[in-house]
Amino acid sequence: MSRAVTAVAGTNIALVKYWGKRDAALNLPAAGSLSLTLDRLGTRTTVAFDRVAGDGDRVTLNGAAADAKTAARVGAFLDRIRALAKLDAGATVVSENSVPTAAGLASSASGFAALALAASRAAGLEPSPPELSVLARLGSGSAARSIFGGFVEMAAGARADGSDAFARPLESAWDVRLVVAVTAAGEKTMGSTAAMEHTARTSPYYEAWVRGVDGDLTAARAAITARDLAALGVVAERSALRMHAAAMTADPAIIYWNPATLAAVVRVRALRAAGTPAFFTIDAGPHVKVLCAAADADAIAVALDDTLGVLRTIVAAPGPGARVIEETG
Ligand code: PMV
Repeated sequence: MSRAVTAVAGTNIALVKYWGKRDAALNLPAAGSLSLTLDRLGTRTTVAFDRVAGDGDRVTLNGAAADAKTAARVGAFLDRIRALAKLDAGATVVSENSVPTAAGLASSASGFAALALAASRAAGLEPSPPELSVLARLGSGSAARSIFGGFVEMAAGARADGSDAFARPLESAWDVRLVVAVTAAGEKTMGSTAAMEHTARTSPYYEAWVRGVDGDLTAARAAITARDLAALGVVAERSALRMHAAAMTADPAIIYWNPATLAAVVRVRALRAAGTPAFFTIDAGPHVKVLCAAADADAIAVALDDTLGVLRTIVAAPGPGARVIEETG
């Protein structure tokens, strides 16, 4: 009987964004990034290589057969694991998200982190944490960071084979909060891979965006070491706005925001002007995530819930890295 392994991973939200690749096939980032892994929003995935070679993989996502695009992406990822483990069996993959899939709430980050861990272990591999981060990166760039808990930095790396492009944990004991303001239902308008490629090819601001990332990383690292929320928040807002500025100035433009996105941004700035340290970030979707102190999170959630167009809020805390929770067979 083949081994079934269940792994869980939390999503992560970048405070210094990843937006652009130096190699599309290997998901090698053009620059580094820095994120916070969350406790509440994540993925639980079970993998077993239990199918006859030639019958293909069977992928179930949130209780239903995965669509063709997702199944192909998971299958391509499993092919890499099979090649490493010298296996030819098909896999059964069952995955549940506690994140709305593909809505800009980073389901691919927790999804590929959990899949990388469950699939590698089910295939009999024992990757080290950096090797696991490299594997997760091959599924989704941001997934490399969800291997680790708390604040995490992803290295751009310099090697062509990507063996030095992995994440490392920075700090996991700083108890901040991220308040997520959900501003739309459903899938985002354009997937991040296509949007990054389009931005790099057509935005006159792309080069400037990439050039600024190292400075943001240095500032963010220093702010985390000093536990200086305001300093980290300033970097997070700057990084998000520069990433979106590059995307918005692509040709044709990529605009992820909706009216509620901007309303939430305005609300966060008003809270700050009134004395509450709160700082926004926005990913490849319309939702707004607010970095704040634990003691202020509930009041910030109430203010955002009361903002026009905000559908609901979720308060998340720093969470652990990807881990195996069950192994049978
Ligand atoms: O991991 P991907 O390919 O889905 O890209 C993630 C891109 C952003 O979420 C917008 C930024 C980031 O660093 O997570």
